[in-house]
Amino acid sequence: MNANKDDRLKARSQDFHLFHALMMLIMTMLFLPVIGTSKQNIPRLKLTYKIYWPAAKERVELCKLAGKDANTECANFIRVLQPYNKTHIYVCGTGAFHPICGYIDLGAYKEDIIFKLDTHNLESGRLKCPFDPLQPFASVLVDENLYSGTAYDFLGKETAFTRSLGPPNNHHYIRTDISEYYWLNGAKFIGTFPIPDTYNPDDDKIYFFFRESSQEGSTSDKTILSRVGRVCKEYLCFEDR
Ligand SMILES: *[C@@H]1O[C@H](CO)[C@@H](O)[C@H](O)[C@H]1NC(C)=O
Repeated sequence: MNANKDDRLKARSQDFHLFHALMMLIMTMLFLPVIGTSKQNIPRLKLTYKIYWPAAKERVELCKLAGKDANTECANFIRVLQPYNKTHIYVCGTGAFHPICGYIDLGAYKEDIIFKLDTHNLESGRLKCPFDPLQPFASVLVDENLYSGTAYDFLGKETAFTRSLGPPNNHHYIRTDISEYYWLNGAKFIGTFPIPDTYNPDDDKIYFFFRESSQEGSTSDKTILSRVGRVCKEYLCFEDR
């Protein structure tokens, strides 16, 4: 009786393996033609649009004088690249430790792609973009507002959350208070995301995820804490968990 049951189980498991193998074969045969032909149907992405945007020469010299590496630090490394509106992308680069931002014009019509940096409207990238190409950093652009969690000094020690930009011709800028030093303590930013709160989009919140060293307890205590900061999108409030 027992042996019988074992055999039946074994047979069933073999059946199962066979079934599995067959299914795999059928699936492969089903998908092979798709894989085979799809290659010809996908148009190759042509990378014909390029923007040449080096750091200013004098900034590169100053950067090198400060002991930074000419190739890996004293150039314009892009850290922000976010859609601003239907026709423009907002872009910031480290500008050889002198952050700089501007708009890339995409053109109004699909047939008529422009893809050009508007060099007449460049602006300071301080508090929007880090100085250092390797600095941990987070930013997101929502409703024409740029939210950044960034270091904003040459040494990369001072950190802040900021909101900048806004609708064209009505730019506002706010940041976490300098005097309230207990808000951020050498934060290392990881990511930032808009997250809905209720059915009302006005209630959406911007969440910042970051790490920082603990400020509680003695100075010898170097505990690193994971933190979440939350900024309201409409009226301004800031909470730190
Ligand atoms: C998008 O923003 C740019 C820069 O402010 C502005 O010049 C342009 O007119 C805007 N486009 C639309 C469709 O609002």
